[in-house]
Amino acid sequence: MNQLMYREHLIEHYKNPQNYGHIDNPDFKNKEDNPLCGDEIEIEVKFSTAKERGSTKSKVTTSKVPKIKVTKIKDIKFSGHGCAISQAAASLMTEHMKGKNIEDIKKFSREEMLGLLKVEVTPMRLKCALLAWNVLQNGLRDDKNIRNVPQQEIKPHLRNKKDND
Ligand code: FES
Repeated sequence: MNQLMYREHLIEHYKNPQNYGHIDNPDFKNKEDNPLCGDEIEIEVKFSTAKERGSTKSKVTTSKVPKIKVTKIKDIKFSGHGCAISQAAASLMTEHMKGKNIEDIKKFSREEMLGLLKVEVTPMRLKCALLAWNVLQNGLRDDKNIRNVPQQEIKPHLRNKKDND
């Protein structure tokens, strides 16, 4: 796709946002605003935890690989209001994060978030493009926003990552 097509793709996400709405009884909830304009986004997540086999990279045969508990995003929704970039970014991010485990969320960097947009974002619009990402990443650093996730999966990985934009 060329830049024009990517722009149209963003506009489509703005006009028809994916995962817009609320989740009954969410396991994660956080809301933040863009201080430059007051626009705000709330993100809600439902997690599911299941036992899965650990890494099979070792020489141990698959049947002997121990099962470990893995918490994944079962459902994720956003709500709120904002400009086309912030809403399209929230739509794209929530699509991308479905089914991801805590490890995936931890590693999901701001560069990857900007990469999802596939268009160049000017410095003036960075706050817009990263609003949803900040809501998710900052929210996961605060225990009061999360439940049904084992503490060892959340801590200490996300504690030291702070976006200073
Ligand atoms: Fe408010 Fe973009 S202008 S989030």
